[in-house]
Amino acid sequence: MYIQIIHGPNLNMLGTREPEHYGCLNLADINAIIMSKARSLGVEVDFLQSNHEGVLLDALHQAASAGTDGVIINPAAYTHTSIALRDAVAAIALPVVEVHLSNIYARETFRHHSCLAPVALAQISGFGANGYILALEGLVLHLRSLQAK
Ligand code: DQA
Repeated sequence: MYIQIIHGPNLNMLGTREPEHYGCLNLADINAIIMSKARSLGVEVDFLQSNHEGVLLDALHQAASAGTDGVIINPAAYTHTSIALRDAVAAIALPVVEVHLSNIYARETFRHHSCLAPVALAQISGFGANGYILALEGLVLHLRSLQAK
């Protein structure tokens, strides 16, 4: 089983970026946690971070054509603005889990709306880096239940 992990804009700044919202782990730390969980679940993961909307779109399209089983994405600020990312998630026939480190519903009102949530399999928001672990567990359970049918 192969899962693509996609990190959106400004997440390369984790570790020093607004730690009161996003914690003290940097992106390499978070990817190492995800990798360790993936190994224990017996699945493969690949990581991509970009600050560019088009690169994120291309990564979603490529996931669909490369035999990827599912996607975990933190679209960061594009969550709240990008109809293009929503359309890409809707266009690919893959389960996509949306993750946010912070609880977006407990912050500014402009963060309360997600363009992607209605077309995602699920959304996890507010568990910090552990949200990626929960997303991976949930996505793998979902995919394995489909395989068992
Ligand atoms: C975020 C929340 C977004 O509102 C914000 O723009 C981010 C990070 C999160 O992980 O909590 O960049 O997606």
